[in-house]
Amino acid sequence: MVKIAILGYGTVGSGVVEVLETNGASINKRAGKNIEIKYVLDLKDFPGESVEKLIVHDVDIIMNDPEIKIVVEVMGGVEPAFTFVKKALENGKSVVTSNKELVAKHGAQLLAMAKEKKLNFLFEASVGGGIPIIRPLNQSLTADEITQITGILNGTTNYILTKMAREGLEFDAVLKEAQEKGYAERNPDADIKGFDSCRKIAILTSLAFGSQVDYEDIYTEGITNITDRDFKYAEKMNCAIKLLASSKMIDDVVYAMVAPFMISESHPLYSVNDVLNGIYINGNVIGDVMFFGAGAGKLPTASAVVTDVVDCAKHLGTNIMSLWSTNKRELGDISNSKKKFFIRVEGTVSDKLAEVKAAFGDVEVILVDGITDEFAVVTEEISEKAYEQGSKKIVGIINRIRIEK
Ligand code: HSE
Repeated sequence: MVKIAILGYGTVGSGVVEVLETNGASINKRAGKNIEIKYVLDLKDFPGESVEKLIVHDVDIIMNDPEIKIVVEVMGGVEPAFTFVKKALENGKSVVTSNKELVAKHGAQLLAMAKEKKLNFLFEASVGGGIPIIRPLNQSLTADEITQITGILNGTTNYILTKMAREGLEFDAVLKEAQEKGYAERNPDADIKGFDSCRKIAILTSLAFGSQVDYEDIYTEGITNITDRDFKYAEKMNCAIKLLASSKMIDDVVYAMVAPFMISESHPLYSVNDVLNGIYINGNVIGDVMFFGAGAGKLPTASAVVTDVVDCAKHLGTNIMSLWSTNKRELGDISNSKKKFFIRVEGTVSDKLAEVKAAFGDVEVILVDGITDEFAVVTEEISEKAYEQGSKKIVGIINRIRIEK
C-alpha cells in the first residue's frame, strides 16, 4: 500500500481522484501495490463528494505524516506550491506535479533535491497534457543527441486558432469556450500571449540539452495580433497558422523562440488541431519522431499525473535519473536566424510594392478576393534583423507572421 496526498482539488486534482477511482484496479496492478489517497488539501470543503472525508486545510498534516510517500501538487502557480514541494521533499516524500510555472522556474533545483534524497520529482503533465513527452525525452531518447524540438504546446491557443480558421469565429468568443472547457489558464494571458508555451519549451529544452534554460530568455510572441484576415491569406496560401514553440541546437548553441507561424500542408504539425498538441523532435540517430494527443483538459492531464504516481510508487527509495542540471545555458541570439516572412501592408500593390521591395528585397505578392485596402507579400529567407530594419522603412505594415519551412 502506498498512501498519497493531493494538494489542490481544482480541475486537475479532481481529475486525479476520478482517474484513480475509475481505473484503480488496473493502476494498482501496474504499480504492483495499492495506491490510496489519504488526504486532499484545499481551502474549500466538498460536502457530498467522494473526497469529503479526505479534505484537510492544513498542509502540515500531510507534511508531518510519515505514511504519505507521494505528494501530488496540482495547485498551479509558483507559490505556495514551491514551498510545499520543497517541504515534501525535505520530509522524504516524492512529488508529482502538473505545474509548469513551478517546473520551469525551479525544476533543476527540485530535481537535485529529489536526487540527493533518493526520491523522485516527476512532472509529465507539465508539458503536453496527456501526451507522454517528458518520459520519452528522459528515458526513451537517451541514445540520441537531440537537434530540434518544435511543438504546438498550448491547447487553448490551438483551439482558438483552429476555430477561427474553420468557423471564422471571433477570438474572444472562442477563448470563452476554451475557458469553459477547462483548457485555459486562470489568467488566459498566459495562453494567448505565449507565456505558457514559453515555459513548456523551456522545460523540454532544459531536459533535452541538460542544463537550465531560463524561460525569461526565450523570445516570445502570442496570438493576440492574429485576425480574421490573416486566416483568409493563410487559406489562399494553403497554410495553417499555429503557435509554435521551438528550440534548435546549431553548432553547440541552442536557439529558442515562441511565435505564431504559417505552416504549409506538408508540415508535420499542420493537422494538429483543436486542443491537441503535437511535438516534433529530431535526434541525430533516430531522425524525426512525433508525439501527438490531448494537450489540456481535466482527464488527459490527470492521466499523466497518475502515470507519474505509478512511477514513483514503483521507484520508492530509488531516484529516476534526469539530465537537467542547475547550470544556466545561454541561448543564441535569434536576430541572425533566417526565415520567410508573410507581411500585410496597407494600400495597393501599384502604390506600395516598389517601397516594399526596397525594404525587404524580392517578394511574392499575395492577393485575396474581396480585400482591396491592403495586400500581402512573402519575402525570401531573410534574417530577423533584416526584417526589423526593413519594417522601419515602411509606413502601414498591418501584421507579419513568420513562415516555417
Ligand atoms: N492552458 C494550458 C493549455 C493547459 O491550454 O495548454 C495545459 O497546460
